Amino acid sequence: MPIALPELTPLQETLWLTLCCRAIDNRSSHRILGDETADEIVRETGYDHSRFRIMAAGALNVAHRAKKLDEIARRFFARHPRGVGLDLGAGLDSRVLRVSPPPEAEWYDLDFPEVIDLRRRLLPAAATPRGVAADLNEPGWLDALPADRPAVIVADGLLAFQSEEEMITLVDRLVGHFPSGEIAFNGYSTFAVWAQKHYKGAESVARIAKFPGFNDPRTPERWNPKLRLVKEILCMREPEVALFPPLLRWWTRLFAPSATLSRSGNVVLHYRF
Ligand SMILES: C[S@@+](CC[C@H](N)C(=O)[O-])C[C@H]1O[C@@H](n2cnc3c(N)ncnc32)[C@H](O)[C@@H]1O
Repeated sequence: MPIALPELTPLQETLWLTLCCRAIDNRSSHRILGDETADEIVRETGYDHSRFRIMAAGALNVAHRAKKLDEIARRFFARHPRGVGLDLGAGLDSRVLRVSPPPEAEWYDLDFPEVIDLRRRLLPAAATPRGVAADLNEPGWLDALPADRPAVIVADGLLAFQSEEEMITLVDRLVGHFPSGEIAFNGYSTFAVWAQKHYKGAESVARIAKFPGFNDPRTPERWNPKLRLVKEILCMREPEVALFPPLLRWWTRLFAPSATLSRSGNVVLHYRF
């Protein structure tokens, strides 16, 4: 029996797209991430994802970038066991279960109040240790988080819905709040933004997307002088490509030698401050 789901805004509704992608990845014989919680939520709610027209490659890309962001967070906690983890625009993601921070660490998931409420209803308790119910572009919500510990801040699928000015303000606030830390998010090249606008099935996302895209991974260094690029992760060059289905693997390996072509695909950007 499908669970009655609340009415969400189109922006909040995008959480189902990424959740369904991870669920599809989990059911695939070419599994990249293995997010069983996402799979369970999609099954239990009976959410109909057919309107997103998710292609196998799209699901795999979402799972792949989530894996890269998880790895960044895991490495951070290995160095900072008392650190803070913050997932911006967490949707229904149960990243904290995959990352499994040390017991002394603190993990926070931020999203709109309606989404944080839904997280509490649909996710296992261990996946919702601390929800921050806020619009991340409003000031004040950071006051509830420790300001004396380093932080790893991840944003998966969020950037598309921010303007560049909003990103600059957000980064300023984060860098001003924590003594040091790391910020990682999936990037959008100008080609990726163009492709999103023209792909049938992504209309609901394209209508509300605001970010113009950039091709130079050092662009965010100009948003805040403390931000330094650690690595531009071009997913086409990552070892998980060996797990891709044959045709996609062949295509990816054709593109991978060129940084420009690799940037047309999945990119995870990692900075420190
Ligand atoms: C594409 S979904 C990604 C969700 C999740 N990170 C994932 O990978 O499944 C984008 C999420 O960002 C949240 N979001 C977008 N803009 C936001 C804002 N200004 N404040 C808080 N949350 C926001 C949406 O509510 C949504 O849950």
